[in-house]
Amino acid sequence: MKFFVDTADVAEIKLLAASGLLDGVTTNPSLVAKSGRRMHDVIAEICAIVPGPVSAEVAATDYDGMMAEARVLRAIAGNVTIKVPLTPDGLRACRALTSQGTMVNVTLCFSAAQALLAAKAGASFVSPFVGRLDDIGEDGMGLIADILTIFRHYPALTTEVLVASVRSPAHVVVAAKLGAHVATIPPAVLRQLFAHPLTDKGLAAFLADWAKAGLSIG
Ligand code: E4P
Repeated sequence: MKFFVDTADVAEIKLLAASGLLDGVTTNPSLVAKSGRRMHDVIAEICAIVPGPVSAEVAATDYDGMMAEARVLRAIAGNVTIKVPLTPDGLRACRALTSQGTMVNVTLCFSAAQALLAAKAGASFVSPFVGRLDDIGEDGMGLIADILTIFRHYPALTTEVLVASVRSPAHVVVAAKLGAHVATIPPAVLRQLFAHPLTDKGLAAFLADWAKAGLSIG
């Protein structure tokens, strides 16, 4: 499963990219607004750090506006993936952009029917928001299972399921067990993936024994 990081914080992305574990980045208008910086600068810097797909979301809601913004965004770098909302205009823009060879991430997906539409529109990625579904008492990971089941019936569909709105390491593990293609993970949750108290305890014991014995390597 590919790991994307879900943030527009360039310093954070630099740190995480150094781990060699990042396959891509997703941003959205809220995350870019939170960075307090110009969209163009943020996306250009991220694309220079991470060679994989970097999602940059349009803010227009009509087809012509989305296409105009997409032209500006995709000119920033070759790895820009245009993010469009799961609306009729968004899917029309998705079809037009993918037929021009631009990667598209269809976002704000909350049902299997919507995911199927995104796949039929030729999306490179469809982003079901698991955390936001859990927040309203629905089953986010159940939706991922449904979408993957449907897509497996139609091998000609090339759309990758990008698990979004991830809130915990458990979401990541279940996504991997289900065979999701990608999870986009907030930095704090990515860091939680490394953590286990027995790792810390074991390492402390090894180091104490090593120091007591006065050993060295090399
Ligand atoms: C996906 O690409 C979105 O940016 C993101 O996962 C939304 O997550 P949230 O529900 O935590 O805002």
